[in-house]
Amino acid sequence: MRLDRFLSEMGRSGRKETALAVRRGEITVNGAPADRPDLRIDENRDEVFLRGERVVYRRTVWLMLNKPQGVISATEDGRGQRTVLDLLPPEERRRGLFPCGRLDADTTGLILLTDDGALAHLLLSPKRHADKIYEYRAARPVSEEDCRRAAEGMTLSDGTVCLPARIEPLTPLTGRITLREGKYHQIKRMFGAMENRILSLRRVSFAGVALPPDLPEGGWRPLTAEEEATLLSFGKGQNAQKMNVK
Ligand code: URA
Repeated sequence: MRLDRFLSEMGRSGRKETALAVRRGEITVNGAPADRPDLRIDENRDEVFLRGERVVYRRTVWLMLNKPQGVISATEDGRGQRTVLDLLPPEERRRGLFPCGRLDADTTGLILLTDDGALAHLLLSPKRHADKIYEYRAARPVSEEDCRRAAEGMTLSDGTVCLPARIEPLTPLTGRITLREGKYHQIKRMFGAMENRILSLRRVSFAGVALPPDLPEGGWRPLTAEEEATLLSFGKGQNAQKMNVK
């Protein structure tokens, strides 16, 4: 692979910047300064350093982000609202990342971003049963009957049938809800069908990857190798499981 393409794919430097960095002697390959931006490198073996920092080749990228309220889970927004991509530095934005699934603008918490379309597609398939766990605050107390209805698979007012979901109240107004699918405004519509109303919603886990307590709202980080392995095992179907909702 060409050096300039490698650095661009890794989101580290555009073509023009690479040419400039080569002229300035800021790039080394296996310890020797790179003399051309189109230098052929072995992306899996060669040791490339840009301004003293090692650039390691990764075919796909997975990041997690703690979405604040008012930010849209899309790659662009026609009305000028901030998107999850706007929270990333420019070098991460260059990779063609997109959010793996959506959260409403007023929902906070865990959202994964990737350029791995194939795995994202598998993780979002309801058949894979990748659990999504949310913390909720409701306007009215949640009853045992509400939990039972959710566990059986609710039918919404427009006839939409939901897969079984687990509600675990912590106090009368707060708790956790686990979904294995992601229909439009699903939790809000489920609570609507229970004659209740969601006041706030925060996603704390997706497909076995948890939102770390020390990641501030608006903060992001790459997934660890273990977290990526968890996602991959879901993609292969190893973690597909029947939700124990009763
Ligand atoms: N359900 C909702 O209603 N909103 C979300 O953002 C996620 C699940």
